[in-house]
Amino acid sequence: MLHIITNTYTVLQPLFGRPPMPTELDMGCGKGRFALDLAERFPDRLILGADVMLGRLRKVAKKADRRGLENVELLRANNLELVGYQIPDRSISRAHLLCPDPWPKDKHRNKRLATTDFFSRIARILTPGGVFHFATDHVPYFEAMQRIAEMHPAFERADDGLDDIAGIKTDFELQWEAQGKRVPHAAYRTAAGGARL
Ligand SMILES: C[S@@+](CC[C@H](N)C(=O)[O-])C[C@H]1O[C@@H](n2cnc3c(N)ncnc32)[C@H](O)[C@@H]1O
Repeated sequence: MLHIITNTYTVLQPLFGRPPMPTELDMGCGKGRFALDLAERFPDRLILGADVMLGRLRKVAKKADRRGLENVELLRANNLELVGYQIPDRSISRAHLLCPDPWPKDKHRNKRLATTDFFSRIARILTPGGVFHFATDHVPYFEAMQRIAEMHPAFERADDGLDDIAGIKTDFELQWEAQGKRVPHAAYRTAAGGARL
């Protein structure tokens, strides 16, 4: 099901009426390969796929239907609004930011999504012990995200945080790998007692 929540003051009920289950959020899901493969591997989890591109989301919705996936909800949402106030505290077990726009030019770098503030917003929506997973082919952006995570008081490294999703790749990741590029991934977990800043 596709929900349009851009430029609204909506606060989601992230389970969309389902009984409690682990919920994962793919921010900027694009063509949806990662979110849909995740949903297929884990039918007992709810997968939220969010993107600003409505046309892409409509295609992802059709693919989910064709594959008979009932544990997917698609959000036309702006990531900043989504993690800023549209998703309630402590409701997401794992959040993914995969191949976000890297804004490689110096003068555009301040358009990058992953900032200290963004990490704080992610910490707010994660359940205690929840995982933030990010990846990008753009090495300087990857290193910047790692630096933010290492300095952020809410997060600690979680090298085992991705074991269960080995082999699930995004469309962009496959594209970069086909060109011989490496796409490093990292995972950080909120402190088990919960992330309160
Ligand atoms: C480079 S693509 C990566 C797509 C996918 N994660 C992958 O790896 O194949 C970035 C995606 O993020 C989406 N996007 C960019 N800014 C966004 C924002 N502020 N909120 C939600 N989605 C955003 C774009 O529409 C695009 O689909």
